[in-house]
Amino acid sequence: MKKEVYKIFKMYCQQYKLNNYKSKKLWSIIRPICYHKEFLKRLQTPFWHHDIKTLGEHIICDAIVTYKIIDKVNKKNKKAINIYLAVIIAMFHDLYEKPWQNNLELPRRKFKNNHGFTHPIEAITNAITWFPNYFIEDKDTLIIIDGVIHHMFPFPVRIIDSGLELNNQEKYEKLDDKYKKIIKLSTNIGKVGIFSIRKSFYIEGRIMSKADKIVAIRKDLKSIDGYISFLTGKNKKLLKKEEKI
Ligand SMILES: [Fe+2]
Ligand SMILES: [Fe+2]
Repeated sequence: MKKEVYKIFKMYCQQYKLNNYKSKKLWSIIRPICYHKEFLKRLQTPFWHHDIKTLGEHIICDAIVTYKIIDKVNKKNKKAINIYLAVIIAMFHDLYEKPWQNNLELPRRKFKNNHGFTHPIEAITNAITWFPNYFIEDKDTLIIIDGVIHHMFPFPVRIIDSGLELNNQEKYEKLDDKYKKIIKLSTNIGKVGIFSIRKSFYIEGRIMSKADKIVAIRKDLKSIDGYISFLTGKNKKLLKKEEKI
């Protein structure tokens, strides 16, 4: 898979029309994350994210679209947006623990703890655990955590309370207190009951969130089944595909 990942990246650069020079610059940012064994796992079955893409492919596409948008905005604006941090947010935003569609091994959760509401917290927990070097500088850490936590906006994210259930709960508990504090704070601001509904405070996260929607709605979710699965966790179309494999 390590050999394949660069080919997959180049294929999507072509699809999204990112030229050679820019794709090299982007690859130099994302390469260390792409080669990590946990990322490589997410480029294969059973990690299907939407109908036609693996989770890893979806993340790569988000990184490309995020890069393209900021590259364009930065050309027009003097105030430069941090393209590096925005791409890192894209690489971490959906690093959730387990495949979420048609997964019979997943424990039954209360509605409030469904994948849609909790996966940003799982993703940031995994990112801090697997890629600690990206969470050393305080300001960068804040921007990355807030961006990942609120990438689903306007869809709500779960706040941290005693009723929260994650598929990587033990990993969350083991995080350094300073990270748990930032995650709690990030979900507490914009709190409505047990959910938080707000955009990221930082432009890097807001643009990444936009890129996520562009990729998901225009390219990934081509069927009604795909949309419905987002709420139910079951995707009939994916089941048919699995039967063929
Ligand atoms: Fe997501
Ligand atoms: Fe996503």
